[in-house]
Amino acid sequence: MRVMVTGGAGFIGFYVAKALIERGDEVVIVDCLSDYYSVALKKNRLKQLGDRVKFYQVDVADFDELKRVFTENKLDKICHLAAQAGVRYSLENPFAYEKTNNLGTLNILELMREFNVKDLVFASSSSVYGGNKKTPFSVEDPVDSPISIYAATKKHNELMAHAYHKLYGLNCFGLRFFTVYGPWGRPDMALFKFTKAILENKPIDVYNHGDHERDFTYVTDIVEGVLLALDKVTGFEILNLGNNKCVTLKHFISCIETELGKEAEKNMLPMQPGDVHKTFADIEKTKEVLGWEPKVGIEEGIKNFIDWYKDYSETAIGNEN
Ligand SMILES: NC(=O)c1ccc[n+]([C@@H]2O[C@H](COP(=O)([O-])OP(=O)(O)OC[C@H]3O[C@@H](n4cnc5c(N)ncnc54)[C@H](O)[C@@H]3O)[C@@H](O)[C@H]2O)c1
Repeated sequence: MRVMVTGGAGFIGFYVAKALIERGDEVVIVDCLSDYYSVALKKNRLKQLGDRVKFYQVDVADFDELKRVFTENKLDKICHLAAQAGVRYSLENPFAYEKTNNLGTLNILELMREFNVKDLVFASSSSVYGGNKKTPFSVEDPVDSPISIYAATKKHNELMAHAYHKLYGLNCFGLRFFTVYGPWGRPDMALFKFTKAILENKPIDVYNHGDHERDFTYVTDIVEGVLLALDKVTGFEILNLGNNKCVTLKHFISCIETELGKEAEKNMLPMQPGDVHKTFADIEKTKEVLGWEPKVGIEEGIKNFIDWYKDYSETAIGNEN
C-alpha cells in the first residue's frame, strides 16, 4: 500500500516510514522540517531513508500545497504524525499549536474526504489525561479538562477525527502515545537533554524534584503499534500506546547515570506549569483491538539510546544542536 506519513522526518515518523518501506509499502513523507529543534537531525533521519521514500517539504497547514501531494500520489492510508510537539513550548507559542495541530489536522481530514482516502491513523498524546487522578489512564476516562495548550490541541484532533468519521465514514484510529524515547530521539526531551548535559559536565534541570512518574515507551514498541493500527484501522477508536509501567524521574535519571558511569549535577526545581505528575497507560483496549504489547524495558531502552547518542554526537551532531 501507499502510505502518507506526515512528520516523517520527526522522531517517531522516521521509524514508522522505515518500518513501512522495510516491509514493502510505499511511503510519501510530508514534513516542513520545522526549526523547533535541530533541522540537521531531521535531515540526517531522512538521509537514513534515502530515495526509498518520496519526500515533500510541505507544511500541513498549507492547504494548497498539501492538496498537491494528494493530487500527485494515489494514497491508500494516512499516518498523521506531524505536530508541534512539546508541552512547555505550548505556553510560549500557542499559535504554532493552533496552526500545525488544529488547522493541519483539519486539512488532512478535508483532503481525505475530497480524495476519498478512507483510513487514518493519527498521533494523540497521554497529555490529554491532564491531571487525571485515576490510574492507570483508561481510554474510557473523561478527558475534558486539559491543563496545557498542547493537550487541548490533541483532544481537538480526536474530536475532529470523530466528526469526520461520523459525517463521511472515515476510519480513524487515534493513538495516545506515552513519553516515547529511543535512538534518534528529540533533543527537547529529557533523555536527550540529560545525556548531553551529563556528558558535557553541565547541570541538569530536574522538575518537581524528580518525583514525576512517566510511562516511558520505547520507540520500536510504538512503531509496532502504529503499523498494527494502519493494518487494522476500521471505524473509530482511541487507543493508548504506553508501556504500562510507571517510572519516577529519579529512577530514570539513575538509569542514565548508571549507563554513562557518571553522576549528574542536579538543579532541583519545582513543578512546571502545564506538566502532569504522573502518566500511566491502561492498555487493555489496545491489546484487544490491535493485539499489541510493549516489549522493551527502561534499562535496555536507555542503553540503546546512549549507545546511539555517543556514536551520533561524535559523527554528526557536533555544534548543530
Ligand atoms: N515523542 C513523544 O513522546 C510523543 C508523545 C505523545 C505524542 N506524540 C506525538 O507524536 C507525533 C510525533 O512526535 P515526535 O516525537 O516524533 O515529534 P517530532 O517533533 O520529532 O516530529 C514531528 C515532525 O512534524 C514536523 N512538523 C511540525 N510542524 C509541521 C507542519 N506544520 N507541517 C509539516 N510538518 C510539520 C516536524 O518538522 C517534525 O519532523 C506528534 O504528533 C506528537 O505530538 C509524541
